Amino acid sequence: MNNTGNNGRGSANRPANQPRVYGTYDIERAKARNARPVAPVHRQQGQHYDPRSRGNYPSGGYKQNQRRAPSTRNNKNDDKFLWVLIVLVAIMAVVAIVVLFNFIGGSDDGKPTGTEEQTAVTSPEESGEQTTPEQTEETEPEETTPPELLAPVPEFTADLTAYEMYMNPTGEHRDAYLILVNSKNPLPADYVPPNLTDVKSTRKDGRKTQQLQFYAAKALEALMLEADACGMVRTNTPSGYPLSVMSAYRTYEYQHQLFYDTYLVAEMKKGYSREEAEKIVETYSARPGTSEHQAGLCVDMHTLPGADQSFQYQPEAKWLAENCHKFGFILRFPEDKMEITGGIIYEPWHFRYVGRYHATRMKELGMCLEEYVAYLENNG
Ligand code: DAL
Ligand code: ZN
Repeated sequence: MNNTGNNGRGSANRPANQPRVYGTYDIERAKARNARPVAPVHRQQGQHYDPRSRGNYPSGGYKQNQRRAPSTRNNKNDDKFLWVLIVLVAIMAVVAIVVLFNFIGGSDDGKPTGTEEQTAVTSPEESGEQTTPEQTEETEPEETTPPELLAPVPEFTADLTAYEMYMNPTGEHRDAYLILVNSKNPLPADYVPPNLTDVKSTRKDGRKTQQLQFYAAKALEALMLEADACGMVRTNTPSGYPLSVMSAYRTYEYQHQLFYDTYLVAEMKKGYSREEAEKIVETYSARPGTSEHQAGLCVDMHTLPGADQSFQYQPEAKWLAENCHKFGFILRFPEDKMEITGGIIYEPWHFRYVGRYHATRMKELGMCLEEYVAYLENNG
């Protein structure tokens, strides 16, 4: 039981000549400690404080080689604080230097690399730079690389530099020509595509000059220049007709006329009922409103007097099937996709413009347009 009234920290029986002691706390030693001067923090090694001469020494009161006052807890804390401060300042200085070097050395023109602005504005093709795959990986991180830059730029025999932007449209044009038109995705009867442009390679047999949307027409021009440079626009074909365009943009009314007045009548003349004839015609002609010819983005081109699957055996057909994607075209109705394209038979003469990026991806994926559009919806 503690009856001292001092919480057990002192002794009621202390001799009169002994100082009062509170636990480990010695009041006389504390007085002596408090009487000592407080050393300034910013002293140097080997210097000691002289209270009489404070202000007379540049070191703030310490003389060289003077005996140092016994160290105290405050002094130790001051030392620790000083070292922590020095280390912090050093770390901050190193970080600042690293950041500064990165900023200056990161870009030749002083702009940060890999920004949207930098990667979106200039393609290697536009700037005329030769870009190797290694350079592309280094300077164009995949997440910031515009996808249009990933379409390989082919080597052409002809100089098609001026056509590059039409064969390989970028920016908002890249996805502008993917419209899917088929029996499930019709166009309005009054739909007329924009910027219809004459097709120079329309067959010279007295037919009206065919037309396409501007980008498709220019890309087809490039295709024909390259085909010519590769010997694929020859006049010594079996028919005597060089590779040429038979049909491009068609109005809704013309498609109606073709389906009902031309093909249906012809099939019925063969003895088929109207119902049977319609089923047959549907395999090679779209009903009005469901033909992508109305979109002004496709052509029928071949070397025969009229479209026929035997065209597939001509060198021109093989060259087109192999190379059309380089110009932004796809073979729209492949031999093995009849079930997916709505029952349309193999048409080795019908080529559809979508732009090189998508045409190349479709070729790599082995997909027709219906499959590819669905793929993009699911995968982006
Ligand atoms: N020959 C294709 C299917 C069309 O008429 O559009
Ligand atoms: Zn066609």
